[in-house]
Amino acid sequence: MIRPEAQPMSSVKQLGYLVFEVSDVAAWEDFGTKVLGLQVVDARGDGGFSLRMDGYQQRFFIEHGPADDLAAIGWEVEGPAELEAFSERFKGAGHEVTLGTAAEAAARNVERLIRVNDPAGNPNEIFYGPKMASETFVSDVVRSGFVADAQGFGHVVVAAKDQDEHEAFYANMFGLKLSDYIRCEYFGHKIDVTFMHANARHHSLAFGGGQLKRIHHFMVQANSIDEVGLCYDRFLFSGGMVHQTLGRHPNDRMFSFYGYTPSGFHFEFGSGAIEIGEGWQSTTHGKVSEWGHHPPQLLTKAYRRAKESRGEKG
Ligand SMILES: [Fe+2]
Repeated sequence: MIRPEAQPMSSVKQLGYLVFEVSDVAAWEDFGTKVLGLQVVDARGDGGFSLRMDGYQQRFFIEHGPADDLAAIGWEVEGPAELEAFSERFKGAGHEVTLGTAAEAAARNVERLIRVNDPAGNPNEIFYGPKMASETFVSDVVRSGFVADAQGFGHVVVAAKDQDEHEAFYANMFGLKLSDYIRCEYFGHKIDVTFMHANARHHSLAFGGGQLKRIHHFMVQANSIDEVGLCYDRFLFSGGMVHQTLGRHPNDRMFSFYGYTPSGFHFEFGSGAIEIGEGWQSTTHGKVSEWGHHPPQLLTKAYRRAKESRGEKG
């Protein structure tokens, strides 16, 4: 057995996958493929399916159920020795760890996995040996492809109850490093979000309070800025509801927009983020965005005012 204290503090390698429990599987297939530009793989008998976006066989597991929420966050580690070390680390700190069965690992297309909840009850799966795709990823609509592979699929923002406890858990148990904080007011809401990284991606995980579901949003990052505009158009014309208009974040410098998924939580589609290197200095930002990321109601109000000033109705 590998004793974790005999090893240097290891980190998870990357955010490997997300599992969503969704009530409308068909709507998710349309959204995942036609709006996000992902590819369906492993359609399953229970109506669920997986989505891929890079060299990994799958990055999103869509499972049928009533929750319309995040069902698990999947983190990749190097191999069996590392998984054992993580398991011992969790147990040593008093966290309940369960070993996934062979069937459960097979369902995720990984060699082996363990499960542990974070302090807010968000379910994490830590695994090694993901199945890689045998064919190059090609999207029907995102022609330039995605920034993923070694950086993980993107990022996820989840609910935290106690921000400090949550940060300590992911730093000490997962080896994530602090990227920065955003603390400010946003249209009457208090924003206090912590951002953490596992690799060159500015953040794989972020968390804050005041959320109704486990997940606030997940993000995928395309290789070109134009893909963000093209996705914005596809989403609008699909009848999708924008949550925040196009904008640029001050911390990861992501150019992006936010919309509602068919499950009611949000997604972010972005491009142009910076990468983190050695010697990164964390800081606290006093705004959510350099510009943009506004609620679309601003546009609706302005549109109504313009119509009224012209004497038009509707
Ligand atoms: Fe985000």
